[in-house]
Amino acid sequence: MALLRITKHGETVLKKPSPPVDFEAIKKELPGLLRDMWATMYAAHGVGLAAPQIGLNLRIAVIDVKHEGQSKQLVLINPKILHLEGAQEEEEGCLSIPGLYSKLRRAAKATISALDEEGRPYEASGEGLLARAFQHEIDHLDGKLFIDHLGLAQRLKVARILKDLKKTWN
Ligand code: NI
Repeated sequence: MALLRITKHGETVLKKPSPPVDFEAIKKELPGLLRDMWATMYAAHGVGLAAPQIGLNLRIAVIDVKHEGQSKQLVLINPKILHLEGAQEEEEGCLSIPGLYSKLRRAAKATISALDEEGRPYEASGEGLLARAFQHEIDHLDGKLFIDHLGLAQRLKVARILKDLKKTWN
């Protein structure tokens, strides 16, 4: 198991859409990769982590928003959003933009399809934080960060904050 460096805003790997993976081709490496992703996510106190955040343009993400203190690990391989419903506006952050938080409107409910760690297709629905995590992590796989959703005025404000924050990142 290894703790991996988390890529930061400004690095190209975060801007590139990640193509779907061929499960059979990655099957052997997958358990080790997932172990490292979980360890890296928990060490950074995140609730989700996408492969571009460890420098890999693979369509893979992990999510654990914890339910009543209990861990509930979800592995998303080649995920797709099937359905979005309603709206929620909450503060959002990202391990690739440490120190920056912003209110962001997202769908309140999200249904996704994906493969699990064994390559089995599944569908999952979530509300609240889980719905937000589905949308946030799948955005990463499409080369998008949460700040890309902000309006122009807020983006200008964020650009100034980012300039200072970047000096503190590694
Ligand atoms: Ni993120």
